Amino acid sequence: MPSGSPEREVVSVRAQLLANEPAGAYRRLVLQAGEIARLARPGHFVAAGVGGATSGLLLRRSFSIHRVDVEAGLVEIVVAAHGPGTVWLTELAPGAHVDLVGPLGRPFPLPTEPVGCVLVGGGYGSAPLFWLAQALRERGCRVEIVLGAADSPRLFGVELAADSCEAVTVTTDDGSAGVRGWVSDVLPSVIERVGAGVVYACGPMPMLRSVSELSERAGAVAQVAVEEAMACGVGVCMTCVLPVVGRDERTRMVRSCVEGPVFRGDRVRWDAVVDGGCRVPDDAVGAPVPAGAAGAGGH
Ligand SMILES: Cc1cc2nc3c(=O)[nH]c(=O)nc-3n(C[C@H](O)[C@H](O)[C@H](O)COP(=O)(O)OP(=O)(O)OC[C@H]3O[C@@H](n4cnc5c(N)ncnc54)[C@H](O)[C@@H]3O)c2cc1C
Ligand code: FES
Repeated sequence: MPSGSPEREVVSVRAQLLANEPAGAYRRLVLQAGEIARLARPGHFVAAGVGGATSGLLLRRSFSIHRVDVEAGLVEIVVAAHGPGTVWLTELAPGAHVDLVGPLGRPFPLPTEPVGCVLVGGGYGSAPLFWLAQALRERGCRVEIVLGAADSPRLFGVELAADSCEAVTVTTDDGSAGVRGWVSDVLPSVIERVGAGVVYACGPMPMLRSVSELSERAGAVAQVAVEEAMACGVGVCMTCVLPVVGRDERTRMVRSCVEGPVFRGDRVRWDAVVDGGCRVPDDAVGAPVPAGAAGAGGH
């Protein structure tokens, strides 16, 4: 059975940017982040302050940790320029400083015994998977990876995958690299070839949903790292809640920043995740009672 890390120490550091390099459609940032490198495990994320000391961008932005160098105290992240915060980060010059809080969340649970594992990354979502692959292989697991993206520049880490995994399958929507199509088109055959017991995935929510469903159908456990919008990143604001089924089979809205971002795919209520957001299922603990239902049966 997979075991999670009990370690929950979180630190805040003023990290110096050592390198900011292109990586296809993304930027790879190397930060001198001391303690965070020592504490982090694959699947953890960091929250970065953006915009500088006088900026009106108050909310930190979250990024999966791509890899660490514990000896040198380095943390690497892969950033897609998306809005003002990520554009600011991707334009920083080496030597600049970034406020980082981390490691945050719960890491990917690792199997206690060697099992076949398939890793699935969508776009920059593959960033934390190569480090995970290394940890799995150190435990004797056979590891294959599927990388998918809209097009070739938006794939991340194909070369890293070749070094860290036993085999790599690439898909692109437009056919500019690998198999034309989605990761879900190739996943069943990869799971079967590996005899996978666990499928780890990180990427857009629709991809995580189909990975979860395909894994369950194939008898494998899916562990998916979700990317819910986050404001505080540390469990205070409830921005990041997601409906998840607990051990008592009841659905609760749980905070993906502290209870996640990694969840068992078959426990997420994908039926309530729609159009980039999620609704509270009617049967969730504490769900609002629909108008008219409160007095049902009364006068
Ligand atoms: C766990 C995790 C890991 C991630 N890993 C990566 C990664 O490795 N690489 C990468 O490029 N991106 C990653 N992201 C996505 C990245 O955090 C966002 O793209 C980034 O925050 C966007 O910031 P922005 O200023 O560029 O864009 P904007 O869209 O302008 O950012 C808006 C800010 O508001 C927050 N926000 C959005 N909706 C709401 C809401 N309803 N209420 C309150 N706040 C809200 C957002 O979280 C963000 O902080 C990750 C996100 C999460 C949650
Ligand atoms: S982001 Fe604030 S509780 Fe999760």
